[in-house]
Amino acid sequence: MKITGPATQLVGEVQLSGDKSISHRALLHAALSPEESRLNNILRAGVTTAMIDCLRELGVKIQEKNGNLIVRGGKWIQPNKPLNCGNSATTMRLLMGALAGQPITAELTGTIGLQRRPMGRVARPLREMGASISSDNAPLVIKGGNLHGIIHNSEVASAQVKAALLLAALQAKGESTIHQPGPSRDHSERMLCELGIKLKTDDHSVTIQPSEKSLAATNISVPGDCSSAAFLIAAAVLVPGSKVTLRNVGINPTRTGILDVLSSMGADISVLYNGESGGEPTGDILVKHSNLKSTTVQGETVVRMIDEFPIFTVIATQSEGTTTVKDAAELRIKESDRISSLLEELRKMGIKFTEYTDGYTIVGPQILNPAQLESHGDHRMAMSLAIAGMIAQGCTEITHSEVVDESFPDYTKTFSQLGATIG
Ligand code: S3P
Repeated sequence: MKITGPATQLVGEVQLSGDKSISHRALLHAALSPEESRLNNILRAGVTTAMIDCLRELGVKIQEKNGNLIVRGGKWIQPNKPLNCGNSATTMRLLMGALAGQPITAELTGTIGLQRRPMGRVARPLREMGASISSDNAPLVIKGGNLHGIIHNSEVASAQVKAALLLAALQAKGESTIHQPGPSRDHSERMLCELGIKLKTDDHSVTIQPSEKSLAATNISVPGDCSSAAFLIAAAVLVPGSKVTLRNVGINPTRTGILDVLSSMGADISVLYNGESGGEPTGDILVKHSNLKSTTVQGETVVRMIDEFPIFTVIATQSEGTTTVKDAAELRIKESDRISSLLEELRKMGIKFTEYTDGYTIVGPQILNPAQLESHGDHRMAMSLAIAGMIAQGCTEITHSEVVDESFPDYTKTFSQLGATIG
């Protein structure tokens, strides 16, 4: 991907593809129901293709009709080849939870990058529930069925751990409770409530009572992805003269940490609430170019914007004063080490910073110079560096940028339409 900066102004309206986390959950819940589900605006990208392909191997019928996905699932069949989760940890962790409840044996595998991601945080409690799982890293073999409920104290506030355990608990005998040190995205809870499953939730725990009846059909229209929206919001805030409207974006408060943080830094962002879709609040977001002041991001806010740190770090370089990120060690085990790899790339653009084990400090504003950059195989890194390129004066090139297709295949098209020189 090549970007010629500085972008002059970004102007227009964007309708984003469906939210990645909600799409994964909708596909899995539909796949566990024997009824026919209709899923609208499911994200069609690398990560969800991996999920759809795995589910088809498990005997789930998934067809495309008039832009919707029609899914019919129920009892899964033993796959006759390893299930390839690609580069998607959400696919792997959530599938592990769902497979734990099925009386079949399946091998799960993925890219070298995925093989480095920790799976033990999901495998250990699933073993306690009765599943047999061969390893704490991919590739692994899982043998499911005959699960019993669990009381689990997770050491991390991770929505993937929670979602995986809820998928297993749905299929277990007896109640399960999952405790986490703080709140994390609650899409699974919202969707399961819509399906009539009995859940008790607070910020730190969720208790689920599995139903004797089979899971009802999931019929949902997935809101636009607020993590993809973050790139457009950042670009509009940073590029002088910009004014961008994002239509029908998910504004679940467990995901909108970036909006709150940017607003507190002085960003001109307004959100117009549209209503609910499938238990999820949606809205239109209007963003204009703004001058930003620095801030500190720490504690529970980190989880509410966990996927937005690559782009937030680019924003920090352009904000006046000292920006500090703390309590964010989880960033080191995402698609790349989103602290050191990102800072390594920004250093090539001339950025100075101080790195800590759980975050960093950046004093801004600093000049971003055009450079030859590397995506580190991380979609959000590639998309964030492209925004840095839009601020720099000259041509920035990002190698292995095809990885953006993992979550936002229309990325370059969307930015070209708004006026950026990108391709
Ligand atoms: C996700 C949760 C987050 C996030 C990931 C998607 C989910 O991961 O980073 O992109 O869909 O539950 P963790 O739960 O590991 O923090």
